[in-house]
Amino acid sequence: MMLVSLSILGFGNVGRGVARVLLEKREWFRRKYGIEFKVVSISDSSATVWDESGIDLREALEVKETFGRLSYWGNEYDLYHLPPEDVAKEVESDVFIDLTPANPEAYKWHMEAFRMGRHVVTSNKPPLVHHYVELIQEAAMRGVNYRFEATVMAGTPIITLLQESLLGDGIESIEGVFNGTSTFILSEMERGLTFDEALKKAQSLGIAEANPDVDIKGFDAAYKATILHDITFEPISFKKVKVRGIDGVSEEDIRKAAEKEKVIRLMAKIERRNVVVEPREVPKNSPLAVYGTSNVALIKSDLLGELILKGAGAGVKETASAVVSDIIKCVRRS
Ligand SMILES: NC(=O)c1ccc[n+]([C@@H]2O[C@H](COP(=O)([O-])OP(=O)(O)OC[C@H]3O[C@@H](n4cnc5c(N)ncnc54)[C@H](OP(=O)(O)O)[C@@H]3O)[C@@H](O)[C@H]2O)c1
Repeated sequence: MMLVSLSILGFGNVGRGVARVLLEKREWFRRKYGIEFKVVSISDSSATVWDESGIDLREALEVKETFGRLSYWGNEYDLYHLPPEDVAKEVESDVFIDLTPANPEAYKWHMEAFRMGRHVVTSNKPPLVHHYVELIQEAAMRGVNYRFEATVMAGTPIITLLQESLLGDGIESIEGVFNGTSTFILSEMERGLTFDEALKKAQSLGIAEANPDVDIKGFDAAYKATILHDITFEPISFKKVKVRGIDGVSEEDIRKAAEKEKVIRLMAKIERRNVVVEPREVPKNSPLAVYGTSNVALIKSDLLGELILKGAGAGVKETASAVVSDIIKCVRRS
């Protein structure tokens, strides 16, 4: 049995989803892969719970879900107040897992983990968007893995597909819908709501953030498109990405598209050295006309031709699927 130690930074929706999978599938991972996971640290913004002999995940979930903060869990485990960079450095683990929200400093935590010889798995986009080359080089130099499947299309494995399949293919373009919040708002507008009403509905359902700019101005889709460009072609500066969000789409635009049997979707188009994110009309019966939190990508390559990948673009279980798969890939003996 291979014992694999994990350090989890971020115990929100995705962090807890990952913990639940590790807990519920423990026996299955032992049987299928011969791997036993031991979570040695869990951090939220209030504290880090750290125990080298392993943390009881059932209790960790209970404490977080009951009290909202790990800092309330004092009597059984030692609590630490460490900056994430120190967690990456100090906590002895095989895999450092960053499941925190966007933070411009996060790439430093990943670099620190690599320097300590740890694999890094993340669902956090900005480190990849802004520091791709240095992160990839550092991981390669240290002989460890850097895996980030959950950053694009949640658990739908577009990154693995592009990195590990189609190896003899020249990719010509990738076109897709990568932001579920924008799709939700546009779909609600198709049902007759104004943009403001649709945005408010998305916020009240927890689909859009209180500050929705990163979604409706197109940045989230642009981050994902940049990551896809980097892994498919070559690193591109985010400044070169052309981004226009759905905030300029009017009810009139939606109506005019409907008259032509079309819908408007926030589309990303990725070609070598050219990434464009903008609202575009697509025929209602096109595979690109997705609904709900589904994402879709149409990949065109010289050998295979057209390939369509459609699946969940958000969700706790769906994102945990990618994170857990990445963890296993980091440590599984081939
Ligand atoms: N949710 C999805 O469907 C989805 C899909 C794909 C990718 N992602 C990405 O996954 C990441 C996590 O998403 P989420 O939905 O789980 O977010 P979330 O529910 O807001 O959870 C974020 C967690 O990070 C913790 N945190 C924030 N700053 C921290 C710090 N400096 N040190 C330690 N912990 C810190 C938060 O602590 P508190 O609990 O104390 O606030 C919280 O536990 C994001 O980067 C997101 O873009 C999410």
